[in-house]
Amino acid sequence: MFRSKVTGTGSYLPEKVLTNFDLEKLVETNDEWIRERTGIERRHIAADDQATTDLAAIAARKALAAAGKTPQDIDLIIFATVTGDQVMPSSACVLQHKLGCRPIAAFDLSAACSGFVYGLSVGDQFIKSGMYKTVLVIGAEIIHRFVNYKDRETCILFGDAAGAFILERADANDPNVILSTHLRAEGSLGDLFLLPAGGSKIPLSQEVLDQGLHFVKMKGREIFKNAVRTMSAVCTEALEHNQVTSDQVSWLVPHQANWRIMEAVANHFDFPKEKVVSIVHEMGNTSAATVPVAFDTAVQDGRIQRGQLILLTAFGAGLTAGSCLIRY
Ligand code: ACO
Repeated sequence: MFRSKVTGTGSYLPEKVLTNFDLEKLVETNDEWIRERTGIERRHIAADDQATTDLAAIAARKALAAAGKTPQDIDLIIFATVTGDQVMPSSACVLQHKLGCRPIAAFDLSAACSGFVYGLSVGDQFIKSGMYKTVLVIGAEIIHRFVNYKDRETCILFGDAAGAFILERADANDPNVILSTHLRAEGSLGDLFLLPAGGSKIPLSQEVLDQGLHFVKMKGREIFKNAVRTMSAVCTEALEHNQVTSDQVSWLVPHQANWRIMEAVANHFDFPKEKVVSIVHEMGNTSAATVPVAFDTAVQDGRIQRGQLILLTAFGAGLTAGSCLIRY
């Protein structure tokens, strides 16, 4: 069986910034409340003429350059998003065209904020099976277009971003590979975080727009508890499966929804918070993009080094959750 390795990463945050002070002008909230409850200080917001695949293309080109590859080298695109350019065709196909790839396989993956970790797992399987050698995994969202800026409980949380990994078949003796992925879903908890309208169940209509059913709805406290529970569970699975203790892990790269959630997961493993990669203050919750953007940021600033053990984890609407242990 083959193994896969991460050979390049890239990320992109749109230029426009929305600070906590900007939000104070839109809803009844304040900078101190947002920072204390979430750790978020600002988020990046896509320009009006940017679609999700535009963000993704920038991140993908950076990841390709870091891996020393061209779009022609890609065998498969997995595009994790819940805010794709349109319902169909898939954002993966749009991106394939934008990058100028060969007529390769390309599909979207819907697992909300866990989408990127799900995507890593799927890409890893395709490489392990020998079917493909080079896989582009994207996590990209323009979530601000699905957020109600009159709802203070949700609008303070979200931002837009894109992140990308290039996975390649590793040489037989290369120790720097994806060691494992663990995924789960609990559909019974689907009503804790959802975007009700726009699908076949509640098609868009004037009445639906008037009721705001095209915006995300969230039960924040319940999400918080389940986020800590599920990310701790899938991280435990990763550590036990690989017979690794948390002190052997150099960095924890969790889904960036709320600093308090990340801290609670780290505490569960007695993991020092200095070893948690967090950029939640800078970008808020960018759904499927948080893990690759945080990872790439730590690669760029030199925290993440080749040979280190890195534990990635995420949770999201579904509820979904996943972990991925990488020797980078
Ligand atoms: N500004 C000021 N006050 C606010 C705001 C706000 N933006 N939002 C809510 N409040 C108020 C509430 O109305 C409440 O007032 P009350 O006590 O008079 O009723 C009070 O603040 C406390 O509210 P809580 O819900 O108890 O606050 P909590 O400490 O739980 O923090 C938060 C709320 C930040 C939403 C937290 O629950 C959280 O982060 N949950 C996870 C949410 C999340 O990650 N969602 C992402 C979707 S899931 C995913 O990423 C896939």
